[in-house]
Amino acid sequence: MKAERTYAGEVEVARRESAYILLEMISYTETMDNITPEMLGGFFEGWPNPPSPETHLKILRGSYSVVLALDEGRVVGFVNAISDGHLMAFLPLLEVLPEYRGQGIGSELVRQISQTLSGLYALDLICDSDVQPFYERLGWLRTNGMSARNYNRQSGT
Ligand SMILES: CC(C)(COP(=O)(O)OP(=O)(O)OC[C@H]1O[C@@H](n2cnc3c(N)ncnc32)[C@H](O)[C@@H]1OP(=O)(O)O)[C@@H](O)C(=O)NCCC(=O)NCCS
Repeated sequence: MKAERTYAGEVEVARRESAYILLEMISYTETMDNITPEMLGGFFEGWPNPPSPETHLKILRGSYSVVLALDEGRVVGFVNAISDGHLMAFLPLLEVLPEYRGQGIGSELVRQISQTLSGLYALDLICDSDVQPFYERLGWLRTNGMSARNYNRQSGT
């Protein structure tokens, strides 16, 4: 039987094809060599007092592990980890630029850093409850946590 072509179906096919083309253009790296502040604009969406690209670069360079998603010379997504190097790691930040979301980049960043840290006992992070399904799809478990914040230091030091 011939499949019926619908407008919604064609839109979905076009969306998948454009997502595939975009994914082909994205490369991933764990090295911070050659990364400059100019490559790091647009992150910390919604933060009232975000770190500057210069401070962002320091945060990434100071991290135990980093995975960057690159579209040519632009960083379009990143995840970082801090760790004792023996037992536990914490993933403080994961973000994909808004125009690059919904294409699998965030999932790939979490998969790659999880693989890099797979020799450790525990990986932990804090997230809003609406993002928990994203991590559950990647095999993470819900947990409870506590936090303290010094909001007059939100842009970093
Ligand atoms: C969360 C985030 C990193 C996901 O990046 P992404 O590249 O869009 O993720 P993916 O394309 O791999 O998404 C995979 C799936 O998770 C879903 N998903 C993505 N973000 C989600 C969210 N905030 N809540 C629930 N589901 C989400 C997507 O809908 C997608 O599902 P689908 O394939 O059925 O459409 C991105 O939305 C982001 O940068 N958000 C702002 C910063 C943030 O919340 N970071 C997490 C801090 S802990």
